[in-house]
Amino acid sequence: MTAASEIETLHINADDIDWFDLSEMGDLSPIMNGRAEVKRIWEIPEQNRVFSLFRMWPGLVSNRHLHLGAVTGLTVSGTWHYLEYDWTAGPGSFIYEPAGSIHTLEVLGDEPVIAYFDLTGNVVNFGADGTILDAKTDEDRRAAEEADRIWREELARR
Ligand SMILES: [Fe+2]
Repeated sequence: MTAASEIETLHINADDIDWFDLSEMGDLSPIMNGRAEVKRIWEIPEQNRVFSLFRMWPGLVSNRHLHLGAVTGLTVSGTWHYLEYDWTAGPGSFIYEPAGSIHTLEVLGDEPVIAYFDLTGNVVNFGADGTILDAKTDEDRRAAEEADRIWREELARR
């Protein structure tokens, strides 16, 4: 693959890329409880950064998960939210999550959500009981334990 720094310009039509069931892509699957598909449009491996289009179906609730890098997203269609925050994302909603964000995504309404996400860094998923499901490195595990501890303290204060 050509390094991103060597590319003058790049054009990819996402319509030419097939949807993949997220449950079959173990390394990019915060979504566990419901039907979700992804188009992995492009990536910059040296930045651990992936540009993806997600299609998530009504009823889906993700695992609570930690992003070790920043995330931006833009909703194309459908309605969703994170259980931890009081805003609702709909068509046109832009979101930014700094590195260290923890959240649980839920699809609202009866229409699939289509959303574009630019994800940097690894993701660590938590089980319903708070166990760490899939840290890729010891460093990620330690970061997840610390982030979860802070998350629980914040939750207790609310
Ligand atoms: Fe996320």
